[in-house]
Amino acid sequence: MHPTTAASEAGAATRRYLAAMRNRGPLSIDWGGAPTRHKRYPGAVRTRLPWESGDGSALGRIGELLRDLLGMTRLVWCHQLDDGGEPAGRPPMLLTGRPAPSGGGLYAIEAYVAAGEPRPPGLPAALYHYDPVHHVLERVRGGDHTGALAGLLADGPAADVAIVLSAVFWRSMFKYGDFGYRLICQETGVLVAQALAAGGRLGLPCRAWLRFPDGEVDRLLGLDGAREAALAVLTLTLPPGGAGRPDATPSARELIERPVAGESTPLPKPMPDGLAAALHRACSAASPTGSPEPAEALRPRPPARAGRAFPAPEPATGIRAGTGASRRTSPLAGYRPVPLRGAALGAVLAAAGEGYPADLPGAETGPAATALCLLALRVQGLPRGAYWYDPARRTLHELAGAERVDEVATGRLLANTRVALRGAAAALVPAGDPVAGARLFGDRWYRMQQMEAGLVVQRATLAATALGLAARIHSDGANETTDEVLGLAGTPLRSLSFLLLGTPPTGGPLVARPMPAVVHEEVMPRSDESLTRTDHL
Ligand SMILES: Cc1cc2nc3c(=O)[nH]c(=O)nc-3n(C[C@H](O)[C@H](O)[C@H](O)COP(=O)(O)O)c2cc1C
Repeated sequence: MHPTTAASEAGAATRRYLAAMRNRGPLSIDWGGAPTRHKRYPGAVRTRLPWESGDGSALGRIGELLRDLLGMTRLVWCHQLDDGGEPAGRPPMLLTGRPAPSGGGLYAIEAYVAAGEPRPPGLPAALYHYDPVHHVLERVRGGDHTGALAGLLADGPAADVAIVLSAVFWRSMFKYGDFGYRLICQETGVLVAQALAAGGRLGLPCRAWLRFPDGEVDRLLGLDGAREAALAVLTLTLPPGGAGRPDATPSARELIERPVAGESTPLPKPMPDGLAAALHRACSAASPTGSPEPAEALRPRPPARAGRAFPAPEPATGIRAGTGASRRTSPLAGYRPVPLRGAALGAVLAAAGEGYPADLPGAETGPAATALCLLALRVQGLPRGAYWYDPARRTLHELAGAERVDEVATGRLLANTRVALRGAAAALVPAGDPVAGARLFGDRWYRMQQMEAGLVVQRATLAATALGLAARIHSDGANETTDEVLGLAGTPLRSLSFLLLGTPPTGGPLVARPMPAVVHEEVMPRSDESLTRTDHL
């Protein structure tokens, strides 16, 4: 065990974790130890959420936003394939699909909502947990938590509603071990991107906060920080109208004194002790505010070898990333080897490289901790090769030619990545220096950077989906061979994720049906007096 003290060298926990992840062996998975993929507060007062924003009410918009974040939106009849895309000889399965991708489909992230009348009307002031199975809010603790939560964020913004994304570590780590921490951080970034896109579509402007005192936020949510901990906060502004926010809301200290609802048992195991747990503690111990610094100083610079520059293709117009959310799935068996239109690639790159509202310095003008590398495998008007995308100038700088790009397939890849590479049109590879920001943010930089990597690939995915394309994250594609091809080896930069994009196959082993938009009948057990329900449909 590596204890973390304030005196630890900034970035030391990150370095130890990265070294262990580089040399990690094959997984040995005890499926018997798999926890449930959602949590519930069974005795809590519940508020049923509208499935769609429909009438444009504030509660309807919040319901649709939560649905687009974590809702169970698809039933998937899935014929099981092995990693090479061949039938696995096991019976088909019926799965519930969700709008955003999740590492291993394990859905480690939960959402809590702090809100309260009069904004939005119809929702008594409380801290709620989103139950995706029933699409309801479960009241965790009474009282308006928005002021107390906002007070824990830098600049204490006024927020109508706050959504906290937390991670149940064991849900991913029972399978992936310490590597699960990286997946969890990226998945949080994926969901931040999803919230920004859905919020934009629904008229709920949203801002992401990655820097806050973890322990205090966890305590306010009633989380122990070891089984489950808060990783990101989203603040939402409701449309104008109706009553304003109350002048004063209870303090965090007052709220923590109040009882919290009991969560379902058995509880998941705490995060196992090891290098991920040490990194997590170091992230929490790092000063949440960091020190002031010029944003440009942290943004990765292209490696010296970047060569010819090409203007990035003009983006296809009329793409609204938020519209792709409900149709997105990760293709199971690769892509049709169809050339990608330059305009489609232009739109994907523009979406990935756009600024976003967050407390990561520099994020307003574009990804602040990650660079965007591209493998153009079959793109009309762009020679096959590896490129560095400069979002500010909309230019692509050649990193490697066609012959080197083929080397990516010789890396340590899983069989499904090899299959997908055959037909994919492009790979988007966020890259960054995992310790560049440690002198300012300590080990928390690792978490912030991983979240941004997740955000970037999800923004690209949503743009691709809106264009009728498909995309899948292949974490194994971010490896040393890919770094060699991109010219990152020998620099502090490393590939952080690997998103393949292309034309989805027609047909295939999946039959997915959207959940009915309007549920006319529903069975909700009311086994005891406390199970009261507020109806809004
Ligand atoms: C952070 C992250 C990492 C992922 N890594 C991989 C991967 O290495 N290989 C893979 O095939 N899929 C990967 N996926 C995709 C998930 O397996 C997929 O999202 C999940 O099975 C749910 O399916 P869906 O995306 O079709 O809804 C990843 C997803 C996320 C969010």
